[in-house]
This record gives sequence, structure tokens and C-alpha cells, in this order.
Amino acid sequence: MIDLTVKNALHAQGPLEDVRIRGWVRTRRDSKGFSFLEINDGSCLKNLQAVLDADAPGYSAIEDAATGAAVALTGELVESPGKGQTWELKARELTIIGTAPDDYPLQKKRHSDEYLRTIAHLRPRTNKYSAITRIRSEAAYATHRFFHDRGFHYIHTPIITGSDCEGAGEMFRVTTLPPCMPAPKDGDVHAEDFFGSAANLTVSGQLEAEPYALALSKVYTFGPTFRAENSNTPRHAAEFWMIEPEMAFYDLSMNMDLAEEFTKNLVGSVLDASAEDIELFARFVDKELMPTLENIVSQPFERLPYREAVDILKSAKQKFDFPVEFGTDLQTEHERYLAEVHFKKPVIVYNYPRSIKPFYMRLNDDAGDAETVAAMDLLVPRIGELIGGSQREERLDVLEARMDECSMDKAPYWWYLELRRFGSAPHAGFGLGFERLLMLVTGVTNIRDVISFPRTPKHLEF
Ligand code: 4AD
Ligand code: MG
Repeated sequence: MIDLTVKNALHAQGPLEDVRIRGWVRTRRDSKGFSFLEINDGSCLKNLQAVLDADAPGYSAIEDAATGAAVALTGELVESPGKGQTWELKARELTIIGTAPDDYPLQKKRHSDEYLRTIAHLRPRTNKYSAITRIRSEAAYATHRFFHDRGFHYIHTPIITGSDCEGAGEMFRVTTLPPCMPAPKDGDVHAEDFFGSAANLTVSGQLEAEPYALALSKVYTFGPTFRAENSNTPRHAAEFWMIEPEMAFYDLSMNMDLAEEFTKNLVGSVLDASAEDIELFARFVDKELMPTLENIVSQPFERLPYREAVDILKSAKQKFDFPVEFGTDLQTEHERYLAEVHFKKPVIVYNYPRSIKPFYMRLNDDAGDAETVAAMDLLVPRIGELIGGSQREERLDVLEARMDECSMDKAPYWWYLELRRFGSAPHAGFGLGFERLLMLVTGVTNIRDVISFPRTPKHLEF
């Protein structure tokens, strides 16, 4: 007897005599003398149909094979006479592994995303969320393949840090509860700092990736990052995953080339590897999904300086909630206007005002524009900002002056500054928000639905 996943069973090369399928019952239909069961194990979108005769061993437990129950079925894989599937299981024996009583929350009907968020422990058993999970996994695999194929090294940067990469004060503080201390009650502060120092959850692995780029030339991180601000929108989570390549000897234009190539490659890989799952979203979630994705893969992205983007926005017919001037941080409404309405494709905006960007971005003074830094954002339809990145300031004196301008205490960054004393070199990198990429490829409009257990206000219980 061999164990088969539903996916392998549905792709079998020929009939198989003795197989076992384990999974969860999606539906059951009883007829006179036999029952039909639809079994799903998450290996693919489709279910495997099993037919079980009433005289088969274990049939007396058929009532327990209700929607949601975990079961094992052994039998013969035979050609299916039914439409829409190649193979079905002619079952010989049913074993109930775990029952699911009538109050199983996923009965056979369409549930709203809001409801499913309240049962985040069960939603991966629905078609939509199992599809998202598989797409997420494929996109992660495609990420590693992309960088590995191009000679990048995958590095792991710390989650707990003493620095604030983005300088925006959006950090969660790490504290320790001394052992044997009762859990704090509301308003009670029993917390100590991290062994006597202030420590935060990282907002970005970039500062720690830079030393590795200045040693191994091309590196990337792929890990969780945390932001304590702005989490009550459909595009922001307090905990999200970021992919951050960092490259020595790259300038801004090479950085933009890589960002474009990576985005195209990721979307293309997912379209390829997850075709069946993506089709579900193209059919039920966003009718414009396929054209949008094909456009991303096949058309060159638009690139324009921030100053030109501001001019376009100022002369737009559309009225924005926030007016735009040089020095304005672009809002999602502006970003979406540029990508969705004006250019109708992904747009890379570069050379942002220094006044709205962090200290580490390289000043464009030697290109005759000391008011801007070599920053870039990739804006995509329906999402807005997917990638943020820059060339880094490699000149010690300019970096120190920028840190003073940003009123930063330079002491904790001594090691970062030292990189500019010992073998400094031009370098650049960017960060891609992994959940936003998943929203883009699925058409899902809420970030809470592309991560297993979203960490946003009101979502902490599990
Ligand atoms: O633009 P950000 O803040 O850039 C950085 O953190 C740089 N240090 C990256 C680098 O150069 N290595 O964030 C990068 C991306 C954004 O473009 C967005 O896609 C995503 O991270 N992002 C979020 N995604 C979900 N929830 C949030 N709260 C996010 N904040 C940023
Ligand atoms: Mg940004």
C-alpha cells in the first residue's frame, strides 16, 4: 500500500491498486448502497472523490465522516467516470481519524473574509486560504531561487536590535519580565529593558545587511520585520515579512534594474508554479488580475524622478485628500494614481527630497541636486508602494553630517560609521514587502488575508 497526496492521486500516471489517502472531508453525499466523499489535504486546490460501498469495512462509521472530519481511505485509484477529474478512489476501507461535530465552523457555504479572520486557525482549510498559503510558499521559494541563481548569499539579520533603521520611531520595544513575576495587569509596568539596554524589534534588516554586502558583495535577507505605526489600514501590518537585497558596487540605477527584474521574475514564477491557485483568484476575487499580472511581466516599468511625479500629481484632474508639493511624502492615493491611472503600469519614482527620507540614503549633491537623495520606490497598481530602497551614503563626512541633521545620536552607530572608514564602497539595496507582493498576485485587498495569523490592532489572540 502507498500513501498518496490528493495532488499525486489526481496526477497519477495510471490506475493504482492499493493506495491510502488521508485528509479532511469537504462534503459527503450518501446514496443507496454507497457514499461519495470529497477529500482535501491541502496539497492542491482540488478534492479527490472517493466512493465507498456500504458493505466496506468501517462503513458503519460513515456518519462520523462529516464535513471537517479527518479520515483515512484505502482502496484502488481508478479512472473517474465523472466530469472534471481524472482519477477517483474506489475505497475499500474508511477509518475515522478525528471527528468534527455539527458545530464545525466551516460548513459548505461561502464565508466572508471578516468571519474567517475570527477563525484564523481553521481558515487554511478553505480553498481561498489554502491557495494563498501555497502561493506564499511558492513565492518564497522563487525568491530564494532568484537570488541564488544570481550569486547572492542568504543572510540572517537580528530580530532584536538596538538601532532604528528607518528613524521613524515606529518600533516595538523589547522588555524582559523577571522570572516569577506575575503577568502585568493593565496599567502595571513590571517590565525591564533588554538586560539593561534599550532594545527594539527590527523594522528592517538593512543596517545589518550592509556590513555583509561590504564583505560578500551580494546578499539578501528574508525575514519578519515589525512596525508599531499605521497598522490600521488594509496595507499595513505590525508584523510583516520583508525581502532585502543589498549589493556592493551598485548605484541607484542598477538597484532599480534589480528591483524591476526581481518583481517581474517573482510574478512570472508564481503565475507558472501556482497557475491553478491563481486562476481561483482571477475567477472569484479580481477579474482584472490576469491582465494586470501579464502587464507587469511583459512591459518595462516606468521610471521618473520625484519632481516629475509631483508635477503630474499637481496637474491631475483627480482631487486628492492630501495636496502634493515638493517635500510631500506621497500617500497611497498618489502612488495608486501614478501606477493605476496615469501610467497604467508599475512605476519607479526616484530622487526623493532629503527632508522625508532616512539618514542612510545617498545625497545627490555631486549630481547637482543637494535637495534630493538617491532613493527609489516601486509603485504598483492597486497596492501603491511595493518596494522602497536607495543607494547608501558611503562617504563618512556626508553621512555624519546627515545624522546630525536628523538629530541622531551617532554613538550607537559607531560600527555603521566604521564601514565608511574601512574599505567603503558604493552600495545599494531595497526592501520588498512580501505580503504586498502576495496581495498583488492574488488580488486580495486586505493584508490580513495573506498572512497566516495577522498582527494588526485587534489580532493578537492567535
Ligand atoms: O520602504 P520601507 O520602510 O524600506 C525599508 O525598510 C528599507 N530599510 C528597505 C531597504 O532598503 N532594505 O519598507 C520596505 C517595504 C515597503 O515598500 C512595503 O512594501 C513594506 O516594506 N512595508 C510594509 N508592509 C506591510 N506592513 C507594513 N507596516 C509595512 N511597512 C513597509
Ligand atoms: Mg517606504
